[in-house]
Amino acid sequence: MTLNALPQPGPSPVMDRHPDIARLVRLFYERARQDSLIGPVFEGIIHDWEGHFRAFTAFWAAQLRGRGRYRGQPVAPHVALASSITPDMFARRLTLWRTAAAEVMAPQDAALLTEKAQRITQVLQQAVADTRTEGETRP
Ligand code: HEM
Repeated sequence: MTLNALPQPGPSPVMDRHPDIARLVRLFYERARQDSLIGPVFEGIIHDWEGHFRAFTAFWAAQLRGRGRYRGQPVAPHVALASSITPDMFARRLTLWRTAAAEVMAPQDAALLTEKAQRITQVLQQAVADTRTEGETRP
């Protein structure tokens, strides 16, 4: 794929400041939304896609560069979705992220984004699993 054919960033300050991350986020979601396993979960919940792209770009700018104004709570929305997110969904999501990062990011950034995504995935997956278990054992 040539760079010109890739989804373009902007218009939003955070996406303009981090055009490479913004492009990655758009490419990732272009594929994730069409994915038969995880696409329906995103489509069922996220309606303000541009708002989500901004939050997600800010999240990754903070993770990758320690910059940006991400002030969200990334664990909470996933715990709330515990009944509809399964381990194979996390694995699929990670594969799509890794592939897209390798395609559009500088190699070092792609490696770091993949490594960080792996760690965050583990944390979220554990939080989701704990929530499921609590739900099962609660009288
Ligand atoms: C298959 C697994 C996952 C699914 C189905 C999923 C789904 C979602 C959905 C539907 C939202 C929007 C929630 C809302 O607006 O109410 C969301 C938000 C978010 N997700 Fe995930 N997610 C998954 C895994 C991950 C992973 C692994 C990461 C990080 C590496 C992540 C990072 C985020 C962030 C940063 C937000 C934005 C929270 C905010 O608005 O501040 N998600 N996710």
